[in-house]
Amino acid sequence: MSTHGGQARGQFSSKLGFILAAAGSAVGLGNLVAFPVMASKNGGAVFLVAYVVFVVLVCLPVMMAEIAMGRASQRNPVGAFSALSGGALRWKLAGWLAILTPFMISVFYTVLTVWIVMYFVASLTGGLEQLAQPEAFGLTVASPSIFVYLFGLQIVVFWVILRGVRKGIERQARILMPTLAILLLGLVIFVMVLDNAGAGLRYYLVPDLSRLNAGVFSAALNQAFFSLSLGMGIMITYGSYFSREESILSSGRLVAVADTSVAFLAGLLILPAIWVFDPATNPDDLSSSSVGLIFTYLPQILLSLQDTVGYFGASVVSSVFFALVLFAAFTSLVSIVEIPISYLIDEWNLERRKAVMLMSVLMTVCAIAAATSFGMSEFFTNFISYGGGQRSFFDLLADTFSEVILPFVGLLACVLCAWRWRSNGGLHGELAVGNPAYRGSFAERYINFSLRTFIPVILLFVFFNSVALKYFAFDLLSLL
Ligand code: PHE
Repeated sequence: MSTHGGQARGQFSSKLGFILAAAGSAVGLGNLVAFPVMASKNGGAVFLVAYVVFVVLVCLPVMMAEIAMGRASQRNPVGAFSALSGGALRWKLAGWLAILTPFMISVFYTVLTVWIVMYFVASLTGGLEQLAQPEAFGLTVASPSIFVYLFGLQIVVFWVILRGVRKGIERQARILMPTLAILLLGLVIFVMVLDNAGAGLRYYLVPDLSRLNAGVFSAALNQAFFSLSLGMGIMITYGSYFSREESILSSGRLVAVADTSVAFLAGLLILPAIWVFDPATNPDDLSSSSVGLIFTYLPQILLSLQDTVGYFGASVVSSVFFALVLFAAFTSLVSIVEIPISYLIDEWNLERRKAVMLMSVLMTVCAIAAATSFGMSEFFTNFISYGGGQRSFFDLLADTFSEVILPFVGLLACVLCAWRWRSNGGLHGELAVGNPAYRGSFAERYINFSLRTFIPVILLFVFFNSVALKYFAFDLLSLL
């Protein structure tokens, strides 16, 4: 165990511990909610294939690079960017961005998770009928009880983090990830035996080439990048807790397989459910918003199950579903909250306890502001105007950090690894640690080539396109 600032640095207990924690981070709302929505809007199988191609060809090399950056430097993102670049100020700024991003994402992700807790509790206590009413979501986000749930959630999240890498982060993933897999498989099987599931299944698995366009590719790439928790400093930090005896390549690959499998299974669950609910579903009429799907449309689908399994049965299915989503969101939330905390521990030399205290106050204050962005506070609801409309504080965080800055941080990590990092054999020297066969392998040649050529170009394009799309409501792809 190496030490920095006089404190022993936490480490995952094993390769499996790392894989479960990193997969816990990667598997989140993106997989269970955003992926199925995008798959249904973008031609099912066509989107699926594009997604898998991007995961393998673009995202995996970036993931390996981020994990290697953390393990080589034994630091949080600020420390990693600074140490591996030889301390240059502009790279320190890059590291700063890699801390600010997870902080801001965790603020709005906390709010999303709070809503899920509220839907879970409502399902469990017989409130499915109310959840399925069109005004349910509006009432939920405006209910003062949201603060009670917010505090409750924060207490659990920060308690896990307080317990440290092995006893906190790794342990919660060891419990929640296998549970999540069982709940998900159970729900998929349940949906498959319902009448008309086949129509949704066909839509999902038979490619409809008429839907193929540039938009499908950009949606698939954005989604894959977000889903693998890249550009958020998470893989850098988790890499710093990963053993030098193990192979980054094989572990990273398993994380990607787990993440993609969950996204695929979520499609097998949600798309058939949509078609069971309405056999005449036209994908063009589906809302493109994940929030609309999960908080408005899905409760109606879940309630409609009462014709088959009764109200009690439908409530059980709904509770299981929201428990599944909650576990996925929780493990992601823990992973992202840990990043600014690891920064405080490494760079400010704080004890974990003090870092957790400081961050819990800061994040809770910001999360309260984000939670009141839905009508409760006029100031935060109409916070700013861009992209042709009035935006809330929550929108600003979600757009800026998860859409715009994310690919940019990924790009910076990629440029650092490809051209700047030289110490101790650079990126490839680190990837060979715990994996001597890496030297001279096809993987080495591919990672080297891709990080120096098309990956930075693609990420730069994604960045510019997100800026144009979000702030100026203009799609660069429309120029093609
Ligand atoms: N991979 C996560 C998801 O799919 C992304 C994420 C990770 C978001 C951690 C927030 C925190 O939802």
